[in-house]
Amino acid sequence: MKFKTRQDLIKDYIQFFKKKKHYEIPSSSLIPHNDPTVLFTTAGMHPLVPYLLGQKHPLGKRLVNVQKCLRTDDIDEVGDSFHHTFFEMLGNWSLGDYFKEDAIRFSFEFLTEILNIKKDKLAVSIFEGDKDSKKDIESEKIWLSLGIKKERIASLPKKNNWWGPAGETGPCGPDSEMFIYKGKKTPKKFNPDDDSWVEIWNDVFMQYNKTRSGFEHLAQKNVDTGMGVERTLAVLNNIDDNYLTSCFLPIIKEIESLSSKKYKKNEKEMRIIADHIKAAVFILGDEHAIKPSNIGQGYVLRRLIRRAIRYGKILGIQSPFTSKIAKSVLPIYPDYQELHRNHKFIMTQLDDEENKFIETLEKGIKEFNLLSEDKILTGKDAFLLFQSYGFPIEMTQELALEKGIKIDLEEYNEEFRRHQDLSRTASQGMFKSGLADDSETTKKLHTATHLLNESLRKIFGSEVKQKGSNITPERLRFDFNFPRKLTPEEIKKVESLVNEKIKASLSIVRSEILLQDAIKSGAQAEFGTKYPELVSVYTIGEGKNQFSKEICTGPHTNNTSELGKFKIIKEESVAAGVRRIKAILE
Ligand code: ALA
Repeated sequence: MKFKTRQDLIKDYIQFFKKKKHYEIPSSSLIPHNDPTVLFTTAGMHPLVPYLLGQKHPLGKRLVNVQKCLRTDDIDEVGDSFHHTFFEMLGNWSLGDYFKEDAIRFSFEFLTEILNIKKDKLAVSIFEGDKDSKKDIESEKIWLSLGIKKERIASLPKKNNWWGPAGETGPCGPDSEMFIYKGKKTPKKFNPDDDSWVEIWNDVFMQYNKTRSGFEHLAQKNVDTGMGVERTLAVLNNIDDNYLTSCFLPIIKEIESLSSKKYKKNEKEMRIIADHIKAAVFILGDEHAIKPSNIGQGYVLRRLIRRAIRYGKILGIQSPFTSKIAKSVLPIYPDYQELHRNHKFIMTQLDDEENKFIETLEKGIKEFNLLSEDKILTGKDAFLLFQSYGFPIEMTQELALEKGIKIDLEEYNEEFRRHQDLSRTASQGMFKSGLADDSETTKKLHTATHLLNESLRKIFGSEVKQKGSNITPERLRFDFNFPRKLTPEEIKKVESLVNEKIKASLSIVRSEILLQDAIKSGAQAEFGTKYPELVSVYTIGEGKNQFSKEICTGPHTNNTSELGKFKIIKEESVAAGVRRIKAILE
């Protein structure tokens, strides 16, 4: 069999399902929009949740794509031959269209006729049934009818054969997984505990919705499938290491060259660096890019970059090196335009983060060694390593594990919380001294955000669009697309226009209309946001004085005269082509 590349596999898959009347949809952002319970998109179905729940998808009932995914549960597992944080998932969906029969037949046909896998190398698993859902005998029958032998079909419990929801609630259901035997002599009977059986594909029959109180039947029966690109490629090419497939090999080669060491005997370190830098490239290059920080997605990104740097140092690689490795990631993925568009941003952010961390890494390791001389690290010490040397706690834990040292994690958490409380109290104190009421203040900043949005559009053109917004009692933060830094004059101009509208005492009126009518009437909406059918529209200024009109959930003040003086305190870049303004009301 000819060597298969990532591109070959993706092309074959998409073409196959297109022939089966599936519409190809683009890969969504790695940052999920409709699920606040998870940080990153973890599966192809994730961006499709509203449609699995019954909303009509504009492109039809049969979809196919390759989705960029990131799973952060097992960052610390990365280092063996098959764990990854970032990976790609091929998937096909039926949104209330075909169900088990066709889903399984499509899978079987693709595996045996397109990928040319011998039926004799295959095994499958099905759901054995429990109090929530009965045994999946339909799937078992379909597999038998396709010639899969009974001893190659395992019935397994929920822990193995139930998938979803992706977050805490949402669509889910029993699944049927497909395995290929990677050894030479395929055993007659399928043993799911034998690692030589590699799971490559999962057909999920999503007919339930998990709510906070239990499982409900969905109005429609869906199919959601997922095939991991990296591991499938490895098995197809008879390679026992996903890091030697075309998805990773150029990165490994670059690490070999930078470290003047061979992959053999340095596998663990090189895999960690390759995986983590690749994941960082995708987070930084995403259409909703994130910067390294100490919270949420930014913290995961920071952990990934810093862990890669530490392992780079173990291999003796000279800093800065992360952006050099990042360069070797890009040619593997010519199809993700955003990575190429955001090329410069990715590299600068990596360099910045590396420069920041490299200054303290060595000192921090020395401090760690000193602090842990008596084989125990107090929580306060671990917190000091975090605060003064930028060591994510997970890194300190890893160091401790390597040296057989215990950490008082409870004390660390206490210390962390105490520190958070202190800084929160400090900022609340600041806020209370200047302003009267929390909710009134946020309302005012919210209205000021609408004035700012429209002022930017009036000054720089209607192609300026909101890319994000965040309001705290102290300030507003507003992201918008714009290719360069604003000049001081431009900042003044924006401030003046907002203040002019505040002085004009414009009224703010809320109306509730259909989404399509709102869009037709020219109301602004945030790009990438999913709105309900009926939306609230806030209009600032009436008749010929109308200044701004936006779809928004509110709340707002009644009149702009309540706002006070608007002042921009910061203007900076957040991603390629995206600027951020922070402003206050005085
Ligand atoms: N959503 C399913 C999975 O991730 C297909 O395995």
